[in-house]
Amino acid sequence: MGTFKTAAVIGASVGIGAEMVRQLAAGGVRVAAVARRLPELEALQAACGGPERVSVYSHDVRRFEEAPSLFDRICADLGGVDCLIYNAGVMPRVEESEYNFGKDREMIEVNLLGAMAWFNPAGAYMEARRAGTLVGISSVAGDRGRRGNPAYHTSKAALTTYLESLRNRLDRYGVHVVTVKPGPVATAMTEGLKLPLMIPAEEAARGALALAEAGTGVGYVPRTWSPIMLTIQHVPSVIFRRTNI
Ligand SMILES: NC(=O)c1ccc[n+]([C@@H]2O[C@H](COP(=O)([O-])OP(=O)(O)OC[C@H]3O[C@@H](n4cnc5c(N)ncnc54)[C@H](OP(=O)(O)O)[C@@H]3O)[C@@H](O)[C@H]2O)c1
Repeated sequence: MGTFKTAAVIGASVGIGAEMVRQLAAGGVRVAAVARRLPELEALQAACGGPERVSVYSHDVRRFEEAPSLFDRICADLGGVDCLIYNAGVMPRVEESEYNFGKDREMIEVNLLGAMAWFNPAGAYMEARRAGTLVGISSVAGDRGRRGNPAYHTSKAALTTYLESLRNRLDRYGVHVVTVKPGPVATAMTEGLKLPLMIPAEEAARGALALAEAGTGVGYVPRTWSPIMLTIQHVPSVIFRRTNI
């Protein structure tokens, strides 16, 4: 991890986020790990070498108004933030004929609005510094509106578009904005689901951090998904709705 001295991972307690914290800390980066579950964060901190390497913060990303002050606190604790990764996400199971606003709302609040609440203070900070990297963990799920979970696909499509706008806004200030689109990853989120080309969280984290380090605009993890999604994006809607791809 030569590029970053400090990083903040939002949604860091388990899964891909926790793996990114482990790999960043192992590479000598000073990391802020943010999520709701403090016991998981503290266990991660201990496994990564203690508070000298990883600082932990309990926070619900749906408490949007807390993000700016917590971002300032993290900057003060770490001595700055070179890279902010927004990874928090939820994907509750939605049945074929279920229309549930409560679930839809949580997905939009956590996967999208929480990202905006964090990227706004981090973007302003990096624009002023004329340096930094913002990373959003989106998904292949944002590339098409599949029938299974409309709000999840919407949240990731909107996150992808939001990150593109942020990239176009911040590029002129030397700030990188990276969109990571993983395919299926074996975590609590996908437990019990039969999905193609599933990879372990370690591999997803490694792929995401490589894209962050390179400052790549948009990247699939693993890269195999790039030609697959290009093809799927071009399937006509009238055919797409009859398939399960
Ligand atoms: N797994 C996949 O197949 C896959 C594929 C593509 C993209 N992704 C995306 O990758 C990201 C990580 O997913 P994952 O598979 O690692 O899921 P996970 O194991 O369920 O972890 C989700 C993380 O998000 C945090 N989070 C959820 N709600 C939160 C809230 N209200 N406030 C703060 N943090 C919250 C969780 O922490 P707490 O619960 O402790 O708050 C946890 O650290 C998500 O954005 C997901 O959409 C996953």
